[in-house]
Amino acid sequence: MSSVIKIEDLHVNFKSPVLKGVSLDIPEGSSFGLMGESGSGKSTLARVIVGAVKPTSGYVEVLGQDLVTCSKEEKRWLKQAVRMVFQDPAHSFNPRYPVREQLLEIVHNDFPNLSMKEQEELVDRALVEVGLDPSHTYRYPHQLSLGQLQRAALARAISSRPKLLILDESLSALDVTVQVQVLDLILKLKSDIGLTLLFISHDMRLVRACCESVVVLKDGVLVP
Ligand SMILES: Nc1ncnc2c1ncn2[C@@H]1O[C@H](COP(=O)(O)OP(=O)(O)OP(=O)(O)O)[C@@H](O)[C@H]1O
Ligand SMILES: [Mg+2]
Repeated sequence: MSSVIKIEDLHVNFKSPVLKGVSLDIPEGSSFGLMGESGSGKSTLARVIVGAVKPTSGYVEVLGQDLVTCSKEEKRWLKQAVRMVFQDPAHSFNPRYPVREQLLEIVHNDFPNLSMKEQEELVDRALVEVGLDPSHTYRYPHQLSLGQLQRAALARAISSRPKLLILDESLSALDVTVQVQVLDLILKLKSDIGLTLLFISHDMRLVRACCESVVVLKDGVLVP
């Protein structure tokens, strides 16, 4: 089976070393858990994968593309194929625009040649998939509950059918019943659209519930 993420001897230094020789291979279609205490480098690793942090050294390949040598066109494709949902949905939406406009913006960027109606349909499909009433999305972010907003963030992440979904503590802010609902939904989507999942969490219970394999990051090093 091919790899969605292949990382060899990755180092990232900010003021001091944060990732110190990380190697990782995530097969296509898997759900992969990344655990580790606060400050161990989990989000930094996720940011390297989405191209937001430049490695100091090492090899990083995502969906067959070497992040250092790939072309602008390939980078654009990767942006659409790899999506990340963050911990705090309140910060992942602009408070000044209705949620729906922000969902449409992504679909519009990814599929500029589709008609307005087709773009609206992609947004509605994703909303139905995450169990969020599309009529709620005409509201502003502060007019939705945290659980609704996190579902909207998830809908935005899946609307363009990514191949890799990175959830960085995306369920932490939700209460337990909503966590379970959203987790079920992510697992259903995973089998429906063939996603590979990188699930970052402190919560052993959630990781156990959804991941086939788990690695632990400790002070910038993966421990077996
Ligand atoms: N842009 C940055 N500039 C400087 N230092 C940074 C930067 N981003 C992260 N760090 C540092 O890198 C270390 C790892 O941070 P990171 O956010 O990757 O940890 P984490 O494992 O995701 O923690 P948490 O579980 O709290 O989210 C921390 O010491 C952090 O202060
Ligand atoms: Mg983090």
